Amino acid sequence: MRFFSLLPALLVGLATAEDGSQAWLRYAPVPNANRYHSLPLSIVALNSTKSSPVYTAGQELQKGIKGIFQEQLNVNSAGKGSSSIIVGTIDAYSKAYGDCDEFKELEDDGFYLSTEGRDVKIIGKNERGALYGAFEYLSRLAQGNFASDSYLANPHAPIRWTNEWDNMDGSIERGYGGPSIFFQNGYVADNVTRAAEYARLLASIRINGIIINNVNANVTLLSARNIEGLGRLADVMRPYGVQLGISLNFSSPQSFGGLSSYDPLDPSVDAWWTNTTNTIYKRVPDMAGYLVKANSEGQPGPLTYNRTLADGANMFARAVKPHGGVIMFRAFVYDNHINESNWKNDRANAAVEFFKDLDGKFDENVVVQIKYGPIDFQVREPASPLFSTLRNTSTSIELQVTPEYLGQNCHLVYLAPLWKEILDFDTRADNKSSKVSNIISGQRFKRPLGGSAGVVNVGTNTTWLGSHLAMSNLYAYGALAWDPSADSVDILREWIRLTFGFDEKVSDTIIEMSMKSWPAYENYSGNLGIQTLTDIIYTHFGPNPASQDGNGWGQWTRADKFSIGMDRTVKNGTGNAGQYSPEVAQRYENIETTPDNLLLWFHHVNYTQKLKSGKSVIQHFYDAHYEGAATAQTFVSLWESLKGKVDEERYNHIMFRQVFQAGHSLVWRDSINQFYHNLSEIPDEAKRVGNHPYRIEAEKMSLDGYKTYAVNPFHTASGYTAIVTTTNSTTGTATTTVPFDSGAYDIAINYYDLIGGKASYEVSLNNRTIGAWRGDLEDKLGHAPSIYLDGHSATRITFKGVEVTKGDTLKIVGRPDGIEPAPIDYVSFLPPGVVD
Ligand SMILES: *[C@@H]1O[C@H](CO)[C@@H](O)[C@H](O)[C@H]1NC(C)=O
Ligand SMILES: *[C@@H]1O[C@H](CO)[C@@H](O)[C@H](O)[C@H]1NC(C)=O
Ligand SMILES: *[C@@H]1O[C@H](CO)[C@@H](O)[C@H](O)[C@H]1NC(C)=O
Ligand SMILES: *[C@@H]1O[C@H](CO)[C@@H](O)[C@H](O)[C@H]1NC(C)=O
Ligand SMILES: *[C@@H]1O[C@H](CO)[C@@H](O)[C@H](O)[C@H]1NC(C)=O
Ligand SMILES: *[C@@H]1O[C@H](CO)[C@@H](O)[C@H](O)[C@H]1NC(C)=O
Ligand SMILES: *[C@@H]1O[C@H](CO)[C@@H](O)[C@H](O)[C@H]1NC(C)=O
Ligand SMILES: *[C@@H]1O[C@H](CO)[C@@H](O)[C@H](O)[C@H]1NC(C)=O
Ligand SMILES: *[C@@H]1O[C@H](CO)[C@@H](O)[C@H](O)[C@H]1NC(C)=O
Ligand SMILES: *[C@@H]1O[C@H](CO)[C@@H](O)[C@H](O)[C@H]1NC(C)=O
Ligand SMILES: *[C@@H]1O[C@H](CO)[C@@H](O)[C@H](O)[C@H]1NC(C)=O
Ligand SMILES: *[C@@H]1O[C@H](CO)[C@@H](O)[C@H](O)[C@H]1NC(C)=O
Repeated sequence: MRFFSLLPALLVGLATAEDGSQAWLRYAPVPNANRYHSLPLSIVALNSTKSSPVYTAGQELQKGIKGIFQEQLNVNSAGKGSSSIIVGTIDAYSKAYGDCDEFKELEDDGFYLSTEGRDVKIIGKNERGALYGAFEYLSRLAQGNFASDSYLANPHAPIRWTNEWDNMDGSIERGYGGPSIFFQNGYVADNVTRAAEYARLLASIRINGIIINNVNANVTLLSARNIEGLGRLADVMRPYGVQLGISLNFSSPQSFGGLSSYDPLDPSVDAWWTNTTNTIYKRVPDMAGYLVKANSEGQPGPLTYNRTLADGANMFARAVKPHGGVIMFRAFVYDNHINESNWKNDRANAAVEFFKDLDGKFDENVVVQIKYGPIDFQVREPASPLFSTLRNTSTSIELQVTPEYLGQNCHLVYLAPLWKEILDFDTRADNKSSKVSNIISGQRFKRPLGGSAGVVNVGTNTTWLGSHLAMSNLYAYGALAWDPSADSVDILREWIRLTFGFDEKVSDTIIEMSMKSWPAYENYSGNLGIQTLTDIIYTHFGPNPASQDGNGWGQWTRADKFSIGMDRTVKNGTGNAGQYSPEVAQRYENIETTPDNLLLWFHHVNYTQKLKSGKSVIQHFYDAHYEGAATAQTFVSLWESLKGKVDEERYNHIMFRQVFQAGHSLVWRDSINQFYHNLSEIPDEAKRVGNHPYRIEAEKMSLDGYKTYAVNPFHTASGYTAIVTTTNSTTGTATTTVPFDSGAYDIAINYYDLIGGKASYEVSLNNRTIGAWRGDLEDKLGHAPSIYLDGHSATRITFKGVEVTKGDTLKIVGRPDGIEPAPIDYVSFLPPGVVD
């Protein structure tokens, strides 16, 4: 299906305001489209009820065709005369045009699309399917695909939901695209326009459900005013076939309803939930159901009353059953106060331990929602062993589109390849092919329900996620929820055409950047299965390997002077390997058969342990961090090569983020390398770690109004120290004589940008100003901020091609603001082509 050769050097007229709000639904004009495709004369949408997705399909077809072909077609609800684009359900089509055999194999939400013959036929098994077919047709046209053909498409799994971790006050837990589109000041927002626009985006990627509030759920959502608000939200999403659902706080009967208990087996509690549920369904008759996080990270749950998790889930299941609702019950249940001094303790064991004896005890409309790995959305984890453990329970996979541990949309990390590794993983249940994707769809264990939940966390920012390029992840999430066999690169190529147009260089470049992005991020964050070595206690953004250990959260590395890794073997460790089916368990039990990229997940080894590559563990750490950061530098030049080929608005927005990532990848690299170098005292064979010939440490300059500051964690500062102004009202000056040979240099300055102030800086050579900037990244990047000098706030600014004479006076003037004391770490004079 490659028809693009028909359109050789086709350049798309770039729409004016490319602020990202239309995402991949821009319907940019396809020049000369009419030459390749004779459009039918009208649109027939076989339902004129405004809340019907079929009606929506008619409107969307009209809008899309107007954009792509610059032609206005009328939408009718019936019509037989002239050629038409007909969209409707099987039933409606049969009634109007007579029975038709082609649709027999359609399943719920599936569609049939035919562009052969006089009419274009878009027929859904249900109304939602018809809308999906309309989006498919428009997507083909927008990509310049004008082929004549017919085909059916059915979903791989019935549940294709997003989860949004929005709080009632309008903040979003782990959201990086601005505040909530759903809530404001404790209530459902008055303005639900953006929610409707989001439902449209979701429908176009065949998402059929959305949980709109944080799994850490606030009981006030159940107030009469908020239930009315839920009704308004559901009303604007219904035309897109997106069903609304909510997260619940388990203790609501007590903390909100005034009962003395929230024991799931207490009849008054049961009655309270039944009544509350009926009240909500009265306003939202098609509510998807509830998502429940219970007995996890301090949240209440049934264990408080010595009831099982199944008792808890089934209480809700009974309440929603008469309304056709589903309960998504999170398997993310663990004790966050486990003691690291016990070698056998392991948070990764928790899900299987909590759920294995409950298999078969959940009601039929309960789905256990399992995070892809046993810990928590790390840069690499093995598939959760719970997938192959539950045989008599419906399950779904929880993925994160919002990259909490993967750069928070300030680093480019295309996630489809990561998700596919998990979805394609063969759990070998009963020594038979048992891919995760076929377990969650219900096929493998013959379950009635299943699918996926993607934590997205869109915000009010016009880009939705804070970053234009990050939207490929949302697009890919929808694509894989529908068809997990879809190819990561094909998905990207499609998304790029729809988002940026037809330029081959744009496409090749974004594909290259995206496909290198996860491996690069893994290289400079945490390798060999050690997890993302971020600060797990604070923001989950920058490096802080020490934070993994010495606390009850159980994301341990067990790193000491000689060795590192979690011993999850059965023979000597936590026994976690034994939670997998025998074939897989054997592979992970044995260090020889464990893949290198999970070595430290399953084994505790010396830093000198040799990998299959022949390198030692520690040398692999050093090398990978250099490699990953080097790759991140290339993203800047790759993106630069697209200047003039992408509209300026998005070009600049993306460039800003790539430059940030390039700088922050060096922070990661140096921080992790310094940490393990310091701990193990094993030198880097290539002599890079701790050896930076192009740097001038700020603390070595002569300081006036500045003082030396011991940064914590120490390894997030070059040479372990930085400088800060002596008070928060003193202007600081740091000067030194340039010791480098005369020539042109890129001058890079590493500094810390904290929230709570906007310091300003000026750098000069012999009183000639080289550059000036402010510490205002908190307004420009959406990642979780920091109030400290650390790996989250550490960043770099570069002034390129500066002519320098040996002996020049380098001067940096820093003016503090608020709590930001104009902190500086070091200055690098980088000869052409060097980045350090
Ligand atoms: C038209 O759409 C409405 C709303 O979705 C639905 O209730 C009705 O059954 C549909 N009518 C037909 C004939 O499909
Ligand atoms: C729940 O929401 C209410 C209203 O916004 C707020 O006052 C309260 O602090 C929230 N509770 C928690 C635990 O966040
Ligand atoms: C509602 O929100 C939309 C989208 O953000 C905006 O365009 C519109 O002006 C808002 N309407 C009102 C009444 O504020
Ligand atoms: C859920 O309710 C319990 C009990 O009132 C409360 O402690 C907890 O903070 C609530 N969770 C949220 C996220 O509001
Ligand atoms: C049922 O719930 C509604 C809304 O929460 C409340 O107004 C009503 O009093 C409840 N009825 C009973 C019998 O508890
Ligand atoms: C739960 O069981 C434990 C131990 O069997 C007991 O000490 C505790 O009192 C019980 N709690 C409740 C709420 O019944
Ligand atoms: C962890 O276990 C060790 C050894 O049993 C004990 O000494 C220590 O007090 C425990 N720590 C905590 C926080 O319970
Ligand atoms: C969107 O976010 C970017 C930074 O992430 C910011 O510069 C911009 O002002 C935001 N725009 C809106 C409309 O929120
Ligand atoms: C076995 O476990 C002990 C802790 O109980 C640990 O110190 C030791 O290194 C482990 N041995 C091997 C070979 O991994
Ligand atoms: C690991 O290192 C320790 C400390 O140097 C040493 O005693 C031990 O023999 C080493 N183990 C292996 C398997 O090399
Ligand atoms: C910079 O300017 C100051 C004040 O004007 C002057 O005293 C000093 O000599 C100048 N330094 C250089 C290197 O030109
Ligand atoms: C300086 O810092 C102090 C303490 O953090 C704070 O109270 C004060 O407002 C700050 N001054 C300025 C000018 O921001």
